[in-house]
Amino acid sequence: MALEDLQAAPAPRLAPGPVPRHVAIIMDGNGRWAKNRGLSRLQGHAEGAKAVRTITTTARENGIAALTLYAFSMQNWQRPDEEVDHLMTLLFDYLDMERATILDNGIRLKALGQLERLPGNVRDRLRRLEQDSASNKAMVLSLALSYGGREEIVAACQAIARRVAAGEVAPGAIDEAMLEAFMFTKDLPPLDLIVRTSGEMRLSNFLLWQAAYAELVVTDVLWPDFGPSTFFDCIETYRRRERRFGLTGAQVQGP
Ligand code: FPP
Repeated sequence: MALEDLQAAPAPRLAPGPVPRHVAIIMDGNGRWAKNRGLSRLQGHAEGAKAVRTITTTARENGIAALTLYAFSMQNWQRPDEEVDHLMTLLFDYLDMERATILDNGIRLKALGQLERLPGNVRDRLRRLEQDSASNKAMVLSLALSYGGREEIVAACQAIARRVAAGEVAPGAIDEAMLEAFMFTKDLPPLDLIVRTSGEMRLSNFLLWQAAYAELVVTDVLWPDFGPSTFFDCIETYRRRERRFGLTGAQVQGP
């Protein structure tokens, strides 16, 4: 196929039906993908970065309003220095290479996490793309970087405690809405679906507050192999779920 044909090829389409507004993905299995092929973990991450590009475009073209990707956890800082450096370099390059695609497709980029720990050059590129894409409306792509769900909740509690200590907030006035307002995700739609690749059945400190009523779908596919068809399978699984939010099935289904 000629390059022009490839560029003009229509994006893969989901079957008609409801689309989750906010999907978050735990992108796991880069290391195993590489090991299975006799490659280095670093090569696995590089291949994972390619899957990030494909899934971002697929989500955007299929009407998902918010896509949140777990790219680097607080706990990932404890990996070997070489791997951490490589992931930071991949991120730095990604922010340069994907800048035009993000801006041309009306995507708003957002970063969630303790960004002050990131290298200065990565932080600068992130901040610039966040600012330049701030008015885009087609989809919000959030990268969870140096992110931990427990750390996010602790930071929210500390911020509220400071207000209580300053006499601005009464302890009895603290409610879910107040905590929600201190989460990185405060301006995003409620989380509908969490996908985890590579078969592991855990949240690994990802979006703990936001996950309360999200649906979980786990696929055995390793992240570098995760393409549109697996993504669509996960959304089809989500469509078959009955979301009850603590109610009975009869209440949800109505009279
Ligand atoms: C988990 O796989 C993956 C990560 C810790 C990093 C995710 C990074 C990417 C997908 C690529 C870079 C991202 C961007 C946004 C450019 P693992 O290493 O734990 O795999 P394993 O469990 O098989 O060892």
